[in-house]
Amino acid sequence: MDHFVYQDGVLCAEDVSVAEIAAQVGTPFYLYSSATLLRHYRLFDEALAGMDHLVCFAMKSLSNQAILQLLGEAGAGMDVVSGGEYARARAAGVPGERIVFSGVGKTRVEMRQALTGGIRQFNVESEPEMEALSAVAVELGKIAPITIRVNPDVDAKTHAKIATGKSENKFGIPIARAREVYAHAARLPGIEVIGIDVHIGSQLTDLAPFEAAYLKVAELTEQLRADGHTIKRLDLGGGLGIPYVQSNEAPPSPLDYGAMIKRTVGHLGCEIEIEPGRLISGNAGVLVSRAIYVKDGADRQFLILDAAMNDLIRPAMYDAHHDIVPVVQPEAGAERATYDIVGPVCESGDTFAKGRAMAQVAPGDLVVFRSAGAYGAVMASEYNSRPLIPEVLVHNDQFAVIRARPTFDEMIARDIIPAWL
Ligand code: LLP
Repeated sequence: MDHFVYQDGVLCAEDVSVAEIAAQVGTPFYLYSSATLLRHYRLFDEALAGMDHLVCFAMKSLSNQAILQLLGEAGAGMDVVSGGEYARARAAGVPGERIVFSGVGKTRVEMRQALTGGIRQFNVESEPEMEALSAVAVELGKIAPITIRVNPDVDAKTHAKIATGKSENKFGIPIARAREVYAHAARLPGIEVIGIDVHIGSQLTDLAPFEAAYLKVAELTEQLRADGHTIKRLDLGGGLGIPYVQSNEAPPSPLDYGAMIKRTVGHLGCEIEIEPGRLISGNAGVLVSRAIYVKDGADRQFLILDAAMNDLIRPAMYDAHHDIVPVVQPEAGAERATYDIVGPVCESGDTFAKGRAMAQVAPGDLVVFRSAGAYGAVMASEYNSRPLIPEVLVHNDQFAVIRARPTFDEMIARDIIPAWL
C-alpha cells in the first residue's frame, strides 16, 4: 500500500497534488511519501515483535539525507556498503551502534572510518578481509565486532544481476567452509565474532528461497556453537520484493516474512537483524515526468518523455517494468493508445517500455513512473549532461525539495581546467 492516489481526478502524494509540485519544481523529479516510508519500516519492525531485533534500512536503495533522518528518527538502523554511505548515515544522525557495514570490498580506509566513528558490526565476506580488519583494529587499539557472510548456495529465483546467494556469485564465503573460516576468525586478535550474516538476492517474490537459506543458517548456528563460538546475532539480509505490476498476486508481506523468520531461527535465541531496502523505499517513491512529443514511427508510436535512462536506469539495466500512469486521471472510456515510451538520451537503450497500452497522452501531459523510490535516484547519472533531477518529500499537505536540481553552471563548475590549457 502506498500514499499515491487520485483525489478529485488528480494524482496526489499524500495530500498534495503532483501537478502542483510539478508546476513549482519543474520536471522530471523524484517524489517520495513520508507516510509510505514510515509505514513500510514499521511493518518490518512489527513483524519481528517479540524478538530482539533491528531493522537496518539498506540505504543503497535511497540515500537522501532527509530520508535517512526520517527513518533514523523512527528507530531504523542502516545497512551501509561504502565510506560514503557510512558518512551519510552518521550525518543524518544515525548512531554507530545502529549501523552495519556490508560489502565484498571494504577498504582499510573504510574500516578505519567505521571503527573510529562507531559501528554495530562489520559483515565480513572473505578471509583476506577478515585479516585486514583485524590488523586495522589492532592498529587502532580496538576490537571489531563481526558476523561472517555465508553463501548458502540457494537459488533466489530473481533477475541474474541481483541474485547473490549462489556459489558462482562473488558474495560471502561458501557455507561448506564456514567452520574452518570461523576457526580462523577466532584466532585473529582484532576481531570478535558475534554472529552470521546471509543475503541471497533482491526482489524475491517467494519466501521459499529465504526459508531454505535461513534453515541452513540455523543449522550452522548450532554447529558453530558446538565448536565453541559465540553466535548471538543473525543478520538475515534484505531482498523481499514488491509488486511492480498491480495484480491480485501480491508478493509475501513483511508479516509473512517475519513469521517465517520466527519459524526458522526463532528458537536460537539470537538477536535478529534484517536489511530491507526496496520494500521500504520502492513504492514510497515515483518519478514524475512530462511528455515532450508523441511521434509516429513506421509501425509504432513513440511517447517521448523528459525523463531518461540516466534518471531511471532500471528498465535499461534489468528490463524492469514500472507502471506509468497519467497525473490527470483519465475519464471512464477515455481513448487508449499503445506506445514505446522513451527518453531523450541518444541511444536505443533509453526505452522505458515497449508496446505499452495506456490512456492516451498528449505533449505537455504529466505522467508518473510508479515504484521508483528504490534504486531510482541513487543510480542516476548525468549522462548526456543532463543534471541530476531533484528529489521532493511529501508529509501530509506539505512538500519540500530535499535535493535541488543543479544549474548548468554548477554542473560545469565541478570540472577543473588544468593550468597548462
Ligand atoms: N543487504 C545487502 C547485503 C544487499 O546487497 C542488498 C541489495 C540489500 C540488503 C537490500 O536488498 P533489497 O531489500 O533492496 O532487495 N539495483 C537493483 C537492486 C540491487 C540490490 C543490491 N543489494 C535494482 O534496481 O533492482
